[in-house]
Amino acid sequence: MTNDFKVVHTIAEVREAVKAWKREGLTVGLVPTMGFLHEGHQSLIEKAVAQNDRVVVSDFVNPTQFGPTEDLAAYPRDLDRDSALVQDAGANILFNPSPEEMYYPDRTTAITMSTITEELCGKSRPVHFGGVCTVVAKLFNIVTPDRAYFGQKDAQQLLVIRRMVRDLNFDIQIVGCPIIREADGLAKSSRNTYLNKDERTAAPVLHRALEAGRALAESGEKSAEAIKAKVREVLATEPLADPEYVEVVDLNTVHPVATLDQPVLVAIAVRIGKTRLIDNFFYPELH
Ligand code: PAF
Repeated sequence: MTNDFKVVHTIAEVREAVKAWKREGLTVGLVPTMGFLHEGHQSLIEKAVAQNDRVVVSDFVNPTQFGPTEDLAAYPRDLDRDSALVQDAGANILFNPSPEEMYYPDRTTAITMSTITEELCGKSRPVHFGGVCTVVAKLFNIVTPDRAYFGQKDAQQLLVIRRMVRDLNFDIQIVGCPIIREADGLAKSSRNTYLNKDERTAAPVLHRALEAGRALAESGEKSAEAIKAKVREVLATEPLADPEYVEVVDLNTVHPVATLDQPVLVAIAVRIGKTRLIDNFFYPELH
């Protein structure tokens, strides 16, 4: 590889490298991740490399965004594989801090959000988006990027981060990137590794259900209830699929709408066995 690349573990090292780049007038992209990288992350990194002179990828399983009964301890990790992928994709720094490096034990400051975190994933994961915003704000302050890259698979997260950036006046462009899928339509996710063989066979039902909903919207259907009923009907064909929510929400409030009179997000969370998977589409497509 020809790009300068290193793995760093401290905030001081990242700051030193970024200051040197900025002295040279170079632009900086940030791709925040929790590691165990796949082609979805790779596409974010490649976009960041194409649009910036230097790129930092963070690789940190952030404890504050997991609830007490969630999969923090089990969350998959593989730093060696991640660092090879990040270097191949052309980034310059993989920032892999410890929880102690990122969080003071006596910290008293955190970001909270209202309204747009109340529905969808925020409903069953009450601490999640506060933890995401807090760690992303910290990463923004550490890396001071010109642009930061987030996948549309975590659509509510993307809307939440855009809102935080607007509300708190971060001078950072948020770039949303399309969902990358397996050949059978399953959205790429680090959590797909939890699926056993039968569950993996069942999981593409999420995409099939959303495609049926999208086709109905494209045919002119305006009723959110009708779109949700179609999505649920397809999910019900798969016995291993247990829907947590099927929702059509407004992009500003992220609260349910009755009709598709404005741009909407159609989002689902479905348990396949013990694994909770999410998927979505924006209607019309986000550009
Ligand atoms: O999307 C993720 O992987 C995480 O929520 C993020 C944005 C890296 C914050 O920990």
